[in-house]
Order: sequence, then C-alpha cells, then structure tokens
Amino acid sequence: MKKIAIFASGNGSNAENIYQFFSNGNRVRVPLVIYDRINAGVADRMAKYPDVKTVYIPKSTWQENPQEIIDLLRHEEIDLIVMAGFLRFAPKELTEAFAGRMLNIHPSLIPAHCGPGMYGDKVHQAVIAAGDAKSGVTVHYVSDIIDGGEILMQEEVEVAEGETAESLAQKIHEVEYSLYPRAIVAALARLDSQELNPPAIPGVTPPPTPSPAEEWAETLGVSYNPEKICQTDNSAENLQNTLESNQNPEQFQSQLQSQLQNPQQPGIPAGSRTHYPTEPGQSSGQLEEKMPSTYLVWSVVMTLLCCLPAGVVAIIYSCQVSSKFYAGDFAGAMRASERAQIWIIISFVLGVMVNTLYFPLMMLF
Ligand code: GAR
Repeated sequence: MKKIAIFASGNGSNAENIYQFFSNGNRVRVPLVIYDRINAGVADRMAKYPDVKTVYIPKSTWQENPQEIIDLLRHEEIDLIVMAGFLRFAPKELTEAFAGRMLNIHPSLIPAHCGPGMYGDKVHQAVIAAGDAKSGVTVHYVSDIIDGGEILMQEEVEVAEGETAESLAQKIHEVEYSLYPRAIVAALARLDSQELNPPAIPGVTPPPTPSPAEEWAETLGVSYNPEKICQTDNSAENLQNTLESNQNPEQFQSQLQSQLQNPQQPGIPAGSRTHYPTEPGQSSGQLEEKMPSTYLVWSVVMTLLCCLPAGVVAIIYSCQVSSKFYAGDFAGAMRASERAQIWIIISFVLGVMVNTLYFPLMMLF
C-alpha cells in the first residue's frame, strides 16, 4: 500500500480527482491533504471524505519549522508528495527529505511560461498573449528550482482561435485530471523499482553480495568462514570432487552442512566452497569436462540405431496396408495396419528409453 500526501493552495479540483481515482483501487491511498491558505477551497472539498486528514499549515511553519511538516509526513508514512495547485515554494529541508518523492503539476509545456509568479490563470493569460498555437500540462519532480525538476510527463493542448484564458484553463484542467493520476502511477512504479535496486550512494560501499555457499550456510543456520576453508585446501582435484558431489544435491547439502560445521573433516573439499559451480565464471569450464559435446552426438547416434530398425519395419507394414487394401484383401490390410502401429510404438519407446538411460549410464561409466 502506497500513501500519498497532497499539497494544495486553492480550489483543489485536482486533489479531489486524485483522491477519487485511487479510492477505486486498494494499492494507493490519500490519507493526508495539506493546505497553506486558511480559506482554500480544497479544505471544504475534502471534508466530505472521512478517511482523509486535512491539515492547515501556516506560512510561519513553512518558513521557520519545516521539520514539523517532515515529521507529520513521516508519521503518516507518506511515500509520495503530490502538489496540486500548491503555490508555495517548498522548503529545502522538505525537498531534500523527499528527494525523488515530490511531484508538481504545471499548466503549460515547461520550459514555456513557468517559474516564479507563473501559476493558474496567469499562465493561460501569458499563453494567449504570446499567441502560442499550443499549450499543455507538465508533471515534474520538485527540485530547488521553481518548475525546474525532472519532467515526468507532458501532454499538449491546442489553443483554438479566439481562445480565452478561462476556456483554456478548462481544457487544461480536463487534461490534468487524466494526466496527473497516470504520472503518479509512473512515479510510484519508479519508486518501487528503486527500492528493489537502490542506486549506489557515493562514498558508501554496499554490503558484499553473499556467495551461493554463504547463502546456503545461512539457510542451513551454520557458521561459515570462507578464508579458513580456503587456506586448508584449494586444489583443482578437490574442485572436481565438489562438482561430482554436486550431482546429488541432497548428498552435497548434507556434506556441506557437516563440513561447514567442522572444516577439518573430510568430505567436500574445503577449498571448493568459494568455487561452487553455480558461481559465475566457475561453472562452465568444469562442467564441460564432465559433459563434452561429443556426448550429444553419441546420444543422436544411439537414438537412430535403436529407433531405425523398428521404424523400417513399421514403414514396410505401412506400405503393405495400401497395397493389400487395393488388392481387395481388407483383413490383410487391417493386420498390416495393426503391426505398423505396434512397430511405431516400439520405435518410440526404444527412442525414449535410450535417451533416459543414456545420460545416467554415461555418468556412471
Ligand atoms: C491547476 O491547473 C494546476 O496546474 C495549477 O493550478 C491549478 C490548480 O487547480 N498549478 C500551478 O499553476 C502551479 N504552478 P485546482 O486547485 O482546481 O486543482
């Protein structure tokens, strides 16, 4: 469940639209709406939804105590801040605390008609005054520069002949109602993927990825010291032994468990732990020694040798079916057909048997 906080300063039609959009599903919620103007229409608009907390935060708090706002957002476990007609410049502490987690919507195609003092109808008036043929909507991440963060989504709107700021505002709002929810979904998806693959932080060394042997040792609940084990033995012969013991995973697992608990005990060669064949770069060469490509050729030859004689008999009987049928010997045709079927089955069974027995036999001898 992802939680969104909406910041608004005015009417709040985008805020309500976003709330309604996500209240239809069960993956995203809007538990908090923050507004910064005591008479903002958004407060009344959202008052009818009992599951939304509406909080007025005065100018002084934004300027002098932004930490209070951060604490409130953290307390509500907010994942994403969505500014919808929010006309205040977000304090640096907040943009830093929620970097990559703050969106804003602007009613023009950024970089056109944006920046300080450009909001709401002022933007539309500027578009009309400039005689632009098109305007649009931009959803962008919030940064320290007003309307300067990374653009997430944009959609164009045609500016018609004789368009007024009011009619353009109406068209822009319609686009906003469909674009903003989609952009929020995209931002949440991006957050999810970042949580799975966090970006590297400069100066911070990520914890080393455990080797398969270490992961296995953890699963088995035993202590594992690769260095101690590596010092004891590291020979190629032992690597080969490990590969052989790996052919029976259960046997390997029990051997590994006892070996990890007592590194001196004979069994799986100690040095091999860091060379377990599922480790990248270690597996192919060792396995090729055990399974050369000529084995595959032999498998095809053996299959042909076993299937072919039975197959030839099946073909002979098949030929007899048509010749007997046209000679009027219907009973003979039926018999030939039955025999052809039996030999086809024999050929198939031999082929399957050869292939299922061949590899295990090859491993043994
Ligand atoms: C929206 O058109 C939004 O794009 C704009 O204010 C309007 C709010 O409408 N935002 C800005 O201009 C920000 N620079 P609403 O209160 O009905 O959602």
